[in-house]
Amino acid sequence: MARNCVASINLNAIKKNYLYAKSLAPKSNAIAIIKGNAYGHGAIKVASHLETSADCFGVACIEEALDLTNAGILKAPILLLEGVFEKSELSLVDRNSFWMVVCNTAQIEWILKSKPINKYDIFVKIDTGMGRLGFQEVDSIKVISALEKSNNVRKITLMTHFSSADNQESDSTKTQINKFNQIIETKQNDQSLSNSAAIMAFTETHREFTRPGIMLYGSSPFSFDEQPNELIPAMTLETSLISLKKFKSGDTIGYGERYVCKKDTLIGVAAIGYADGYPRSAKDGTPVFINGGIARLAGRVSMDMITIDLTGINSPQIGDRVELFGSNVSIDEVAQYCDTISYEIFSQITSRVYKTYVP
Ligand SMILES: Cc1ncc(COP(=O)(O)O)c(C=O)c1O
Repeated sequence: MARNCVASINLNAIKKNYLYAKSLAPKSNAIAIIKGNAYGHGAIKVASHLETSADCFGVACIEEALDLTNAGILKAPILLLEGVFEKSELSLVDRNSFWMVVCNTAQIEWILKSKPINKYDIFVKIDTGMGRLGFQEVDSIKVISALEKSNNVRKITLMTHFSSADNQESDSTKTQINKFNQIIETKQNDQSLSNSAAIMAFTETHREFTRPGIMLYGSSPFSFDEQPNELIPAMTLETSLISLKKFKSGDTIGYGERYVCKKDTLIGVAAIGYADGYPRSAKDGTPVFINGGIARLAGRVSMDMITIDLTGINSPQIGDRVELFGSNVSIDEVAQYCDTISYEIFSQITSRVYKTYVP
C-alpha cells in the first residue's frame, strides 16, 4: 500500500467495551448497537467478533440486518431500530425472525393486517421527550393494546430514547424516566431505555435491555474532560508524514492563510484530508501524535493533506507515522476541536482509508 492512511480496528477492544457495558448493568441484556456500519468500524467484522457474547444487535434498517445474516451472523437476534419502512419488508422480518421497533401508525397497520408464519417480536417506541420517533402518551397506550390483541405478535417490549443522558446537569433524563414509568404504569412488559450515557450515569434505566452504542467503540458519551478510563479506543487512524519544511515567522500555511507562523517553524504535511473523512472543521491546535509526542494542526485541512506544527517533536522524518486519533490521541478531544462528536467522525471515515482489523 503506497498511501499509508490506515484505520486499524481492535475487535477485542470492542468486545471488552461490550463486556464493560454488560458489567455496569449485570441483570440486563445488552443490544450491541452496530447501525451505520458499526459507527464506521465495519458491522460484519464487529458482529462476527461479538457474536458469541452479544445478546442482540441493533441496526437502523432491514438492509443492514440482511448484510449481517447474509454474512452468516445468525446466532443473536437483530433489532431493526426504526422498524420497517414499507409493508413488503415484513415478510423478510418474518422469515429472518428479526425483532422490530414500531414507531408510527403505518407500521402498526401493516403489522396487524399481515399474515406472518412466525409471530413478531416488537419494541414499541414511546416518545417521552426526545421529540423524534415514537408514540406520544395516549397513542402509546392504544398501540400497546392493539398489538396485545393481535395474533401476529409474540412479545412486546416497551422502549424510549433519551435526548440528553450525556448531560448530567440537565434534568431531562429524570423527566423522561418519570414519564416513561407513568405511561407504562402497571405493564409487565420488558423495557429498554438506556443508551451508553444512561448505562453509565442512570442505573435506574437499565431494565431488561440496554442499548450501548458509542461506548462499544471506546469513545465517551460525556464531554472529553469526563472520560471514563475503562473504555478502550477501538479505532486508530494513522497516516504518514510526506513533507517537512522550515518556515519563517510571519509565513502562512495552507488555504486561506489561516495559520500564521509566530516564529520560525518546522511544518510537516501528513497524508490525510477531508476526502478521507478527517474533518475540515478541525481547528488549529487539534492534536496529533508523532514520535512519542503531541503536535498540533497548523492551517486548514485540505482534501488530501493536513499541515502540522512539529515544534518539540523528536527528529521528525518523512515517512514517520502520525496518529490522528486512537490510544494516544482521544477521538473525543479531536471531536471537541472539530465542534462535533466522535460518532460523526467515525461514521465519515471514507473508503479511501484502508481498514485493518486486529483480532
Ligand atoms: C434508539 C437508539 N438506541 C441506542 C443508541 C445508542 O446510543 P449511544 O451510541 O449514544 O450509546 C442509539 C444511537 O443513536 C439509538 O438511536
